[in-house]
Amino acid sequence: MRVRITPGSRLRGSAAVPGDKSIAHRWLILAATAQGSSRLLGVPSSLDVRSTASCLSSLAERARPGLEAWSRNDAATAQGHGSTWNASTAGRPDTPVEVEGEGWSGLRPSERDLDCGNSGTAMRLLAGVAAASPFRSVLTGDASLSSRPMERVAAPLRQMGASVATREGHAPLRVDGGDLQGIAYDTPVPTAQVKGAILLAGLTAAGPTTVREPAPTRDHTEIALEAIGVPIDREALAVTIRPFQHGGIEGRVPGDPSSAAFLVAAAALTGSELTITGVGLNPSRTHFLEVMARMGVRTQSRVDRLEMGEPVGEIWVAAADGVRATQVHGEELPLVIDEVPILAIMASLAHGETRFAGAGELRVKESDRLGALVRQIGSLGGSCQVEHDDLVVAGGAPLGGAAHAGGDHRIAMALVIAGLAAGTPVEVDDVGAADVSFPGFLPLLRTLGASIEVMGP
Ligand code: S3P
Repeated sequence: MRVRITPGSRLRGSAAVPGDKSIAHRWLILAATAQGSSRLLGVPSSLDVRSTASCLSSLAERARPGLEAWSRNDAATAQGHGSTWNASTAGRPDTPVEVEGEGWSGLRPSERDLDCGNSGTAMRLLAGVAAASPFRSVLTGDASLSSRPMERVAAPLRQMGASVATREGHAPLRVDGGDLQGIAYDTPVPTAQVKGAILLAGLTAAGPTTVREPAPTRDHTEIALEAIGVPIDREALAVTIRPFQHGGIEGRVPGDPSSAAFLVAAAALTGSELTITGVGLNPSRTHFLEVMARMGVRTQSRVDRLEMGEPVGEIWVAAADGVRATQVHGEELPLVIDEVPILAIMASLAHGETRFAGAGELRVKESDRLGALVRQIGSLGGSCQVEHDDLVVAGGAPLGGAAHAGGDHRIAMALVIAGLAAGTPVEVDDVGAADVSFPGFLPLLRTLGASIEVMGP
């Protein structure tokens, strides 16, 4: 879908964002491997999460009817997004996921390959599930996912005793699992996906499993495991768990802070005030608010409740009068890994030069996000370059013109937000990619006051 964004509108109101996909992947896996009944609310209909649900329904026979019923209902309501968008419920009635689980030992070989679509989190976490299961599973993905590095997850799972074959380090992954041994593993790259895969596999292993990271990453796996009673020891950069079979789980998935980041940026760049409700406020995910604060964006947040140990609440954005450059240090980078595209757009509209140090991991996300940002900010008239692993954005140019999302949901949304604060209208193609993490992104922005016209398919 190609859209034209006319700058100059102010946004107003209050909005909810779809559920957090990082959390949803993990809770769905824990529901399908539970011994007992689970009920999850707020599971987002984003394509990535649907991939995990569909793979789990192939592995967990008892959970299948519940997962399929959710998938069907949710697909039906997702159709109505364009005309029935409701900003306070993230656009749709809340279809619960209600599943029965027979525990880890109830998983059975899938009759088909496990298609993880575009989702790196689905593939890496499910590799952990496959390693825990005493049969062969084959995990596949789309062209983008098949080009992303998988040795980082294959290597520790092999150490635990699974046999994992990759195609030169990439998907498809062929995993022969079962009979695992706990390990102590130092992840060379800070990645929550690999940490999550090892910990999930560790639930069925003999003995304790420890993961140590070079820098902190999001801790949704640890929080969920703690909430369901897994014996766990946590230190700043290390976590140890012991084998455990959990019972059914219940909770409402918090709104995705990474999706909220686009709205916070939109408000900041257009001098608007906005409230985002029901959003996850896990500190390992809200670091972008600190980076934005350094750029002059004033926000407040308040935690209202915990859902399976995850803090949930509201974010208020106060009208800002322009944004300024900042420096994002290498050790902060894993904590804003998914927010770099929108922070880079803000940086290109800010006064002064912003450097994102140690941003090399962005080359292996859903697209080469460093390359995409250099090209797309450039084609909008800004200036952005890569120096070794640093992304350097020169601020201050009035943006305008045409840009391409290149099939990447976060690049698509960042470019749309650039249009709201540009000097002249911006056209962006392939904006439908936003559905990967933020179904209803465009209707929500329109409801909040943005001027966005659909130009073509
Ligand atoms: C995720 C971790 C991050 C992030 C991705 C989701 C997760 O990836 O970019 O969108 O849910 O664990 P890495 O941990 O591989 O950096």
